[in-house]
Amino acid sequence: MTHDQDHRRHSDSVFIRAARSEPVPHTPVWFMRQAGRSLPEYREVRGGGTILNAIADPDRATEITLQPVRRYGVDAAILYSDIMTPVHAIGFGVDIEPGVGPVVQRPFRDRSDLGRLRPLDAATDTPYVLETVENLVSELSVPLIAFAGAPFTVASYLLEGRPTRTWVRTKALMATDESLWFDLMDRLADLAIASLRSQVEAGASAIQLFDSWVGTLSPPDYERFVLPASTKVMSAVADLGVPRIHFGTNTGELLGLMAAAGAEVVGVDWRTPLDAARRRVPAGTALQGNLDPALVVAGWEAARPAAADVLARGAHGSGGHIFNLGHGVLPETDPSVLEALVEFVHSSPGGATP
Ligand code: CP3
Repeated sequence: MTHDQDHRRHSDSVFIRAARSEPVPHTPVWFMRQAGRSLPEYREVRGGGTILNAIADPDRATEITLQPVRRYGVDAAILYSDIMTPVHAIGFGVDIEPGVGPVVQRPFRDRSDLGRLRPLDAATDTPYVLETVENLVSELSVPLIAFAGAPFTVASYLLEGRPTRTWVRTKALMATDESLWFDLMDRLADLAIASLRSQVEAGASAIQLFDSWVGTLSPPDYERFVLPASTKVMSAVADLGVPRIHFGTNTGELLGLMAAAGAEVVGVDWRTPLDAARRRVPAGTALQGNLDPALVVAGWEAARPAAADVLARGAHGSGGHIFNLGHGVLPETDPSVLEALVEFVHSSPGGATP
């Protein structure tokens, strides 16, 4: 990498160094869903319509991405977009209902539905995403995290048609039509790859693959039905040279496999203590997490000791630690608690010592 590229990629930033398990002066911190309804300044500019309208407006999306960086002084920004942006952009027929989540007009049912999943040409299908990334890269002094939905989690929305707690249609397809399942996963892997590559080529400094709901699977099912497609995604972005974060919830039993897909950083939810998570991933893998978002809602008195515990467990063993919540910021969160949390993490001694 040239000096210039190095600078643009924020290689010396605390966030990127921790992601690479290099020594850092303090533990870096950012929050999943740091932009969003918990911020009054978000509610001010979000506008009507669905979130997909706000994402398609680069000025608004840029401003919303910057808001938590300004307010909290976090060590990374995450692009304001959604895991459903690519499937929406190619016309699958998805919307995101406020308070509900992704809703699909005609869910994926049979082989003919593969025809509704054409490849993504990011420059023409999601030009607004690339414009937002370019705006952000020129304004930010911290790294920008690009992201995509992992094949399993996106497939689950396309198959179920809306959020679910049981994933019955998803599991039924796996169990009854393996060949269609793998073809679907392959299409979704290609969408994630095209989306991630375009965001990094536009200037993003790291990627996160969100497999939010994959923890519903057993390790053998994960290994057979999901690992090949997620490995394909991670392998296809390896040459970009940016750190790759692999995140899901309820994944205590899957952490080793998720690292094996090809990740410098594995995201951990609050159910698995970070020192236990360390033992499940190869040495030198960084961990990201994992304060319970509900404890942030409970207030600073409740969050502070829990955050200290996360920092202590994160410092165990070899490999970096990026402080985060175990899942996204809840809408009822008081932003002042997150402000106190960032200050607390930044002023705590120790941090990741590989
Ligand atoms: O700050 C950030 O983290 C960046 C932006 C971001 C959003 N969605 C914005 C958003 C990111 C990284 C996502 C990814 C995403 N989207 C995931 C993976 C992360 C996770 O939480 O596990 C998932 C599962 C989705 C699908 C989705 N989109 C859901 C379940 C919802 C919530 C529905 C609701 O209204 O409660 C959305 C909508 C959404 N995406 C909002 C935001 C800020 C909600 C607010 C709005 O409508 O303005």
